[in-house]
Amino acid sequence: MASRAYDVLTIGDMCVDLIVALGDALPQFGQVEQWVPDYLLEMGGSTCIFACQAAKLGLETAILGRVGDDAFGQVILQRLQSSGVDVRYVKTQPALKTGLGLALVRDDSDRAILTYAGSLNAVYPEDITDEWLGQGGHLHYGSYYLQTNLLPAAPDIMRRAKALGLTTSLDTNWDPDDCWRGNLPQVLSSTDIFLPNEQEALAITRASGVEQALTLLLNEVQVVAIKRGERGALVGQGSVRHAVPVDPVLAPKDTIGAGDNFDAGFLAGWLAGLPLEQCAALGNRCGRATTQTRGGVIGQPLATHCPELGENRVPR
Ligand SMILES: Nc1ncnc2c1ncn2[C@@H]1O[C@H](COP(=O)(O)OP(=O)(O)OP(=O)(O)O)[C@@H](O)[C@H]1O
Ligand SMILES: [Mg+2]
Repeated sequence: MASRAYDVLTIGDMCVDLIVALGDALPQFGQVEQWVPDYLLEMGGSTCIFACQAAKLGLETAILGRVGDDAFGQVILQRLQSSGVDVRYVKTQPALKTGLGLALVRDDSDRAILTYAGSLNAVYPEDITDEWLGQGGHLHYGSYYLQTNLLPAAPDIMRRAKALGLTTSLDTNWDPDDCWRGNLPQVLSSTDIFLPNEQEALAITRASGVEQALTLLLNEVQVVAIKRGERGALVGQGSVRHAVPVDPVLAPKDTIGAGDNFDAGFLAGWLAGLPLEQCAALGNRCGRATTQTRGGVIGQPLATHCPELGENRVPR
């Protein structure tokens, strides 16, 4: 394959997260005002977080997306750029407001999320040209159900990526309608690596357990990594399977972005040709690292923390 400008391309569900730690307070209507112990404003968006981690692991990464002409848009651009992500395909659109996820966090492990879409789903099928796809070696498609304007075109985008010689990965994340419809089977047929969490894998396959879900998914996709929170990941390829624990498990500050960071770690290992088990261990390490800080980006490991990626970590 001719040399490509980027190892990894992704399409941005661009938004910020305003994460409010509730402490003992529960929101109450009737204009009840309460103190909260902490908050954080941070770039959110599954693929934005993924892109930052991929770039920090040494992958040349570009993201295509939209932001509003506002302070939150600047937060996203600044965070992506300082992580080493190429943002030349991010357009600032004055008619849009930047997307916002308001996360109310209780007990450091549970959260309620209110989402304003805005720029989050402002990428349209015609934005994903063959010219853009042809610059990458790999396409990571995330937030499948939230990128609503792209959803009908997802099978075509993934099929074109494969036809242009890219490898592909998919993280659907949760379906807010809990329907799991759409063109998922067609998308999976053009997917090399599928990265659901356990609940998503069970919802998609209607399997009775995670092992069965893996079996069913491996009928459709070559490589499957099912993320299982503090239990790590169950990964498979063909007849090979590994349950790869997080070791050691550490108490999380919050788990925002853990799955996206797992995706980037797993993919960096896979693109470097590491065995499946090591890809999952690297994914676990990246997933766990961000649970030790608030938001999905701050604690992301760098390539220098991942000697297993070695000298061949850029696979071009
Ligand atoms: N509490 C935890 N302790 C240690 N590691 C964790 C914890 N939670 C998540 N991880 C790590 O992060 C990975 C991904 O987390 P999880 O299974 O929650 O994915 P997810 O549900 O897709 O996350 P997201 O909310 O980002 O979509 C896990 O496989 C594990 O490696
Ligand atoms: Mg997820």
